[in-house]
Amino acid sequence: MTNSVMPTYGRFDVAFTKGEGVWLTDTNGKQYLDALSGIAVCNLGHAHPAVAHAISEQAATLIHTSNLYHIPLQTELADKLTDLSGMEQVFFCNSGAEANEAAIKIARKYGHEQGIDKPVIIVMDNSFHGRTMATLTATGNAKVHAGFEPLVPGFVRVPYNDIDALRMAIGHWPEAVAVMLEPVQGEGGIKIPADDYLADVRDLCTQRKLLMMLDEVQTGIGRTGKMFAFQHTEALLPDVMMLAKGLGNGMPIGACLVAGNAVDILQAGNHGSTFGGNPLACRAALTVLNTIEKDNLLDNVNTISTHIIEGFKQALSKQNDVKEIRSLGFMFGIQLTVPCTELVQIALEKGILINVTANNVVRLLPPLMINIDEANKIVAMVSESIIDFLVSQANENEA
Ligand SMILES: Cc1ncc(COP(=O)(O)O)c(C=O)c1O
Repeated sequence: MTNSVMPTYGRFDVAFTKGEGVWLTDTNGKQYLDALSGIAVCNLGHAHPAVAHAISEQAATLIHTSNLYHIPLQTELADKLTDLSGMEQVFFCNSGAEANEAAIKIARKYGHEQGIDKPVIIVMDNSFHGRTMATLTATGNAKVHAGFEPLVPGFVRVPYNDIDALRMAIGHWPEAVAVMLEPVQGEGGIKIPADDYLADVRDLCTQRKLLMMLDEVQTGIGRTGKMFAFQHTEALLPDVMMLAKGLGNGMPIGACLVAGNAVDILQAGNHGSTFGGNPLACRAALTVLNTIEKDNLLDNVNTISTHIIEGFKQALSKQNDVKEIRSLGFMFGIQLTVPCTELVQIALEKGILINVTANNVVRLLPPLMINIDEANKIVAMVSESIIDFLVSQANENEA
């Protein structure tokens, strides 16, 4: 099909017209289980009644006024987010990349305030932080950089989950002002660091007065079984935390939260956004956070996550090409020994939406509200897709 949309996405040949809970319906009336939640966005499922009601009521009341004026719903959402996280202040924007841009600006200004003219931000191999110039530079993936050089100066990269490498980089770069990382690398293949890694990063940052900047765009808003993934580590608080995706359940909203040394770095005139934190987006986000609490969705994630992992381990136990099955809450990665991007189409034909990232990791990010029955369907359909794919690969190799 030719059309006038810029061809920036490789799209699957399907379009959806309706969603309800974990289910989507395509233009032919076929139903699909959505085990991806619009890439960790629709954490409450599709057409959630409370979110739909809040958005429609707010749209009929007041959508936008601009940040020239006070926005009570923005203040209410900032208070809710700081209560939930222990952070102190919030800047609102419209996407994950923008939340990260705000963090990068905070880190640079923090450096300048200490007399560092050319501040350096330490970022990770294999990371993903967005597609704007600064966030694609921060991203540890050569494919994301290709064609867009010159990249933004002031970033150095170290291997993820390697505290010695980080210690060395900090020693080597006196201009270092911040460390920016994901608590679990999502696009990078559901990479879960060692239990003590984030605490060790925090210690190094504290010793050297660097900002610890956690990109929770994918891991935040209940995705890992805590409201924010850093809360898996006792007594940890980052200096900066970035959110987007699940915060609005599909209503575009991002947030950059600060605590400790990052508080009050950005002052009037330093940063802004026309749409950021408008009444409509804030009302949606408040409803999302309240619903996660009211419906005990974190408990649901923790219970069902274990059930799903056990299900996969049983269903795939005889598959030698399944290298590892891992998860933190509802971020699941099933790593194969072979590249498996074709699996997405196989699963789509069976009626389930999944993703393959890092070439050989099946990634599942189901909505937080699924029940046991829906979880069992996900395990059965994904396992069947993986087995069909591996059998077809084996047959091709024999032929
Ligand atoms: C960890 C992380 N950071 C940032 C982004 C970019 O978010 P957005 O696409 O909303 O700009 C993503 C998107 O996948 C992400 O996973």
